[in-house]
Amino acid sequence: MRTDTGQVFKLEDYRPTDYLIPETGLTFRLSPEATRVTAVLTVERRDGIAASVPLVLDGDGLTLGRVAIDGQTLAPTDFFATPDQLTITTPPAAARFQLLIETELAPAHNEALMGLYRSSNVYCTQCEAEGFRRITYFLDRPDILSIYTVRIEAPHHEAPLLLSNGNPAGSGELADGWHYAVWHDPFPKPSYLFALVAGALGKVADSFVTLSGREVELGIFVEPGKERLAGYAMDALKRSMKWDEEAFGREYDLDVFNIVAVSDFNMGAMENKGLNIFNDKYVLADHETATDADFANIEAIIAHEYFHNWTGNRITCRDWFQLCLKEGLTVFRDHEFSADQRSRAVKRIAEVRTLKAHQFPEDQGPLAHPVRPRRYREINNFYTATVYEKGSEVVRMIRTILGAETFRAGMDLYFERHDGEAATIEDFIKVFEDVSGRDLSQFSLWYHQAGTPNLTISSTHNAAAQEFTLEIEQSVPPTPSESRKRLMHIPLAFSLVGADGKAIEYSGVEGASVEDGVIHIRKRRHVVRFSGVAERPAMSLNRGFSAPVTLSVEQKADDQFFLAGHDNDTFSRWQAFNTLLTEVLISAFRQVLDSRQPGFASRLIELAGKIAGDETLEPAYRALALALPSEADIARDIGKNIDPDAIFSAREALTVAIAEANREIFSDLYHRLTDKDAFRPDAASAGRRALRNTLLDYLSLLQGGAALAARHFQSATNMTDRAAALSVLALRHSGSPETVKAVADFEAKYATDPLVMDKWFQIQASVPGPQTIHAVRALTGHPAFSMANPNRVRSLVGTFSSANQTGFHRADGEGYRFFVETVLQVEKRNPQLAARLATALRSWRSLEPARQGMAREALLSIANTENLSADLRDIIERTLA
Ligand code: PHE
Ligand code: ZN
Repeated sequence: MRTDTGQVFKLEDYRPTDYLIPETGLTFRLSPEATRVTAVLTVERRDGIAASVPLVLDGDGLTLGRVAIDGQTLAPTDFFATPDQLTITTPPAAARFQLLIETELAPAHNEALMGLYRSSNVYCTQCEAEGFRRITYFLDRPDILSIYTVRIEAPHHEAPLLLSNGNPAGSGELADGWHYAVWHDPFPKPSYLFALVAGALGKVADSFVTLSGREVELGIFVEPGKERLAGYAMDALKRSMKWDEEAFGREYDLDVFNIVAVSDFNMGAMENKGLNIFNDKYVLADHETATDADFANIEAIIAHEYFHNWTGNRITCRDWFQLCLKEGLTVFRDHEFSADQRSRAVKRIAEVRTLKAHQFPEDQGPLAHPVRPRRYREINNFYTATVYEKGSEVVRMIRTILGAETFRAGMDLYFERHDGEAATIEDFIKVFEDVSGRDLSQFSLWYHQAGTPNLTISSTHNAAAQEFTLEIEQSVPPTPSESRKRLMHIPLAFSLVGADGKAIEYSGVEGASVEDGVIHIRKRRHVVRFSGVAERPAMSLNRGFSAPVTLSVEQKADDQFFLAGHDNDTFSRWQAFNTLLTEVLISAFRQVLDSRQPGFASRLIELAGKIAGDETLEPAYRALALALPSEADIARDIGKNIDPDAIFSAREALTVAIAEANREIFSDLYHRLTDKDAFRPDAASAGRRALRNTLLDYLSLLQGGAALAARHFQSATNMTDRAAALSVLALRHSGSPETVKAVADFEAKYATDPLVMDKWFQIQASVPGPQTIHAVRALTGHPAFSMANPNRVRSLVGTFSSANQTGFHRADGEGYRFFVETVLQVEKRNPQLAARLATALRSWRSLEPARQGMAREALLSIANTENLSADLRDIIERTLA
C-alpha cells in the first residue's frame, strides 16, 4: 500500500522528461509467489540534455534484482534504488543505451488489484493509472510512448493461454512443461495501456472485416464453461466496430482484438491496446442471470473500451490532468452509440438522470473539481462523474454549438493532427476552433471551472406589442478553492411552445445570439426579446439537456402541466413532468416536517395515469417518467438540512397516491404487458418489461400487493422480472412471509453464481429503514460475500452507503460507524476501493445538524487513523475541508 506522502501534483509543473523509452521488451516468468520480470528498455536522451543528468524511474513497492546497461551489470554504486524509485546516477555518455532491469513480484498477494495480480487463478494486469510501476521501474507517465515486445513464460497446464497487447509474434514449448508466447504491438503506447493475461480460459471466437477489407480475429475469454454467456458481448463488439467506422470513420488497426473477463476488478473495464480487460459483470449475460440493465451496460461498456482505441490509445493524454480528453470524449461516443442502437430520447433521459444523480452532487459538494483538474494528490480519485459524465456533456455542447457536420470535421482533424501523440485539452479545443473559425475561449471554461452553473429565468408577454421577453441570469456557485467564478458560455436549447404543442415561430430576436433553437448565454444577464409572438407561449428550456446546468424558472404550473403532456419533444416532455414531480415532492417533504399529511393535486396524479396508458409513447419512456425522483434526487434539490426519513415519507405518500388513483389503468396495463414471447434483450422488449415492473412497484402498495409481487417473482422467466419482483418485495414488504420466501428461494437458486448473488446483496442492502444495518452486517458473513472482491463489496456495502438513504443515515449514527469499520477494513487490501466507498459521505454537510455531527465524527475518526493510504486520505481530507 502506498501511504500518503502529502505530495500534490500540479498541472503547471508539467515538464517533458529528459529521457525517452522508444522500445520496451518485457519477459515474464510467471509464478504466483515469485514472478520474474526482465525489462529491457531502449533509453534515449533528449537532444540538449547533458549526459550527467541522472535517469530517474518510477517504481511502487518493487523488489529489484539485477540492473545492467548495454550488457554490463551495474555495480551498487552506479545506481540508487528504493522500492519506489530507481535512479541511474551516471548514465552512459551515448545518447542511446539499453537498460535491463530485473524485478520480482508476488501476484498472488496483490490484493490492491493494481499491477500484476491473480484473479481466480488467472494472471492479469491493471496498469491505469500508475500500476505499471508495480511491475517494473519505468517512466510511468502517459507521454512516454514506447513500442512493446512481450514474452510470457508459464507452465503449460497452469496457463495454456498467454496474452498481451498487439499481434501474436511467436510461441513454443520450453523445458519442464513450460511454454512461451511473444506479442508485439507496433503502435507506440504509454505504459498504462500495457496488459498481460495468462491462465486457463474458455474462448469465444469471431471475426470482423473492417472498412478497408482487413479481417480482424476477435476473441472473448471467460472462465471455462461460461462461453455461452459471452455471446451478447461479442455481438455488441461487432456492432461497436461497425458504428465507429460509420459515425467517426475510425477503423480498427491490429490483426486481433481480445477481451478477457475477470472476476476481481476495481473498475468497469480497461482499454489496454488490443487486449481489453473487463470486470466479468460487464461481459457475462443471458436472460436467466442478467437484467435488461446489465445487457445495456454490457453494450455500452464494450463500446466504450473499443472506442478508446482511437480516443485514448492512438491519441492519448499528455498527463493525467488531461484524463477527460480520453474519458469525456469516449463517454460521449458510447452515449451516441447507444442512442443509435436503442431509443435516442430514452437514452438521453437515462443519461440525464445519471448525470444528476452522480455528477451534480459531486459538483455541489466538497469533492467538486473541474472537468480538467489542476491538482491532485492521488490520480485514482479523479476517475469521477465529473471527468466522465460532465466531460461528455462538454463535448456534446461543442457539437451543439458547431452543428453536427462541423463537429465531425473537427473530430476528423483531431485524428489527423494528433494520431500517435499524447495530447491536451487545448489541442482538442483548437481543432474545433480551426474548423469553425469560432473563438471557444469562453466556452473552454467548462473544462477549467468547477461547479454547476445556475440559470434564473423569467418571462413576460406583451400581447399588444406581440413581444415575448426572457430574462436570463447566470451564476456559478463557489466551489472548493475557486471562490470567484468567471461567466460562462452556456448553450441553452429552447422552444416557445404554442397551444398545439408545436414551436411558435417568431419574426425577430434580440438580446443574445440565437441560432438553431439555441440561446447563447455569455453574459451575466440577457434580456432576450422575441418579436412577432401573438399568443403567450409556454417555455420549454434546456431542451435535450443542452447544458449541464440547474434552472430556476418562474413558470406557471399550467404551463408545466401543458408541456408535460404535450411537448412534441419526448425528452422535454419528460423534463417537464420530472420538474413537476420534484416540486411536489419537495413541498410534501416540508409538510412531513411540519407533521402534516402531504396532499397532492389530482391533476398531477391523473397525468401519471395518462402517461402510463399513452400508447403513442414508448413503454421505456413511460417507465422512466413514472419512476419518481429518487430520495437522493429529492435531497439534492432540497440542498440543505436533509432529513432522509421525511424525504422517504413524502415520496412514499406520492407513490401511494398515484397507485390508488390509477389502480385500474395500472392493473389493466400490467396484465396486458405480460410477455408471452421468448426473451429478447432488445430495447423495445426491455422497455415493456421496465414499464410492467414499474407498474408492479405501484400496485404492490395496494391491497394484495405482496401476493401480486410474489406471483410476479414465481412466474418470472428472466432475471429482469425476477430481480424486479424481489426488489419490490424486499423494499415494499420487508419481513412479509412472501418476501422471506422469495429471498430464500433466490439464494438457493443462485448460491453459486456470484454475479447473481450481487443482486441479492444489493436488494437487501437497499431495504429502507433503520433495521437494514443489522441485515447488512450479517450478510458480510455470508459464504458468498468477500471483502476482497470489489463487486461483492460494492453490491453490499456500496449500495447500503450510497443508495440507501434511510438505512445508512440512521438517526443514531450506526450506519456511519459501520461505514468507518468497513472502509478501514477494505483499505488494508484495496485502498482504491476503500476511497470509492468513502465518497458515500461527500454530501454530509447537507444533512440536518444531528446527522451532520455524527457524519463528521465518522470522517474524523478515519482521518485520525495512522498510515492511511494516499487514496483514502485524499478523499477524507477533501471531504472534511
Ligand atoms: N480507463 C477505464 C475506462 O474508462 C477505466 C479504468 C481506470 C479502469 C482505471 C481501470 C483503472 O474505460
Ligand atoms: Zn474510459
